[in-house]
Amino acid sequence: MTTPSSKKRVLSGIRATGRLHLGNYLGAVKGMLELQDKSEYETFYMVADAHAITTPYDTKTLAQNRKEVILDYLSAGLDPAKSVIFVQSMVPAHFELSHYLGSVISVNRMLHLPTYKEKVKQYSDESSMALLNYPVLMAADILAYKAEAVPVGVDQEPHLEIARQIARNMNTKFGTDFPEPKIFETVGKYIPSLLGDGKMSKSVDGSFINLTDDPDTIALRLAKVPTDSGRGESVPIKGSVANLLFFVELFQGSEDRKKYEDMYLSSGIRYSELKMDLAKAIFSVVEPIQKKRIEMVKILDDVINDGAKRAGNVASQTLLEVKQKMGF
Ligand code: ADP
Ligand code: TRP
Repeated sequence: MTTPSSKKRVLSGIRATGRLHLGNYLGAVKGMLELQDKSEYETFYMVADAHAITTPYDTKTLAQNRKEVILDYLSAGLDPAKSVIFVQSMVPAHFELSHYLGSVISVNRMLHLPTYKEKVKQYSDESSMALLNYPVLMAADILAYKAEAVPVGVDQEPHLEIARQIARNMNTKFGTDFPEPKIFETVGKYIPSLLGDGKMSKSVDGSFINLTDDPDTIALRLAKVPTDSGRGESVPIKGSVANLLFFVELFQGSEDRKKYEDMYLSSGIRYSELKMDLAKAIFSVVEPIQKKRIEMVKILDDVINDGAKRAGNVASQTLLEVKQKMGF
């Protein structure tokens, strides 16, 4: 089996289910950006539109969502001169490979994944075969490029464990040479929900701030974050106040966090002021991304078409190798 070029490969993707929020940006896109700038890596970044159909979705908005994610990528700094940026469904080798990879992992392993169980709870009547197969398709996305590093948030770790298991099983059974892909983590690998419990997620209203939010929207979303009296004997370590302090540290720095912690233990925090400063700091991070978005619309179609060709060349080569090894 031929090995990839001397560069290590990287693959990541985000589902086409809407605009990106700060969790997606800090947990996944920041890692993608870091690796695209390292010369020892060859980076492939896609929008996972086929993964969007694993939970109920609207056929009318899928095409728009697909474009929004690519636009968010480009505006955030993913660069088609450095990375292959593409749409998953335009590279059919992923789906064929997913079928072959499915033969080396058990149904039982899929049924016990925490990510699967959560989704089944959420959409009990509509949990589909596509949902059960989600991690196998994700493994195909990664292994099609023999990727070694996958910049994603920590919530994706169970899926990466499946990809590693599939890689090992394929190598043992059929003599393929898949590397075992590892997560590439950023400092924002787990961005908590604005509401206090769980992670920031686009499927939980009130939990997120989008990259495309204007200053008023950001202020409004922060205004809804539940708070307490602002003072006490110990600084909260979980819940929405703890999360606010985490955001202060992330966007304003550890000194500001320390200042608020001291206030909590003495004179008290005035949350309206904290939230106003935080809103400004968050907007200063998303503002340049928003400005770039307008220009990126012009190159969108070319990026998508070129990306499909470049990704397709690599993925179909891997598929060919796998089919040969498996006796086709
Ligand atoms: P969502 O849960 O909002 O639907 P996705 O599942 O589409 O987000 O995640 C896209 C990428 O963003 C994945 O790499 C995921 O790990 C990352 N991500 C999502 N939410 C967060 C978060 N709150 N903190 C860090 N990373 C996140
Ligand atoms: N499961 C990822 C998410 O929820 C999306 C995804 C699909 C992905 N295929 C991938 C991420 C391959 C990394 C690598 O966002």
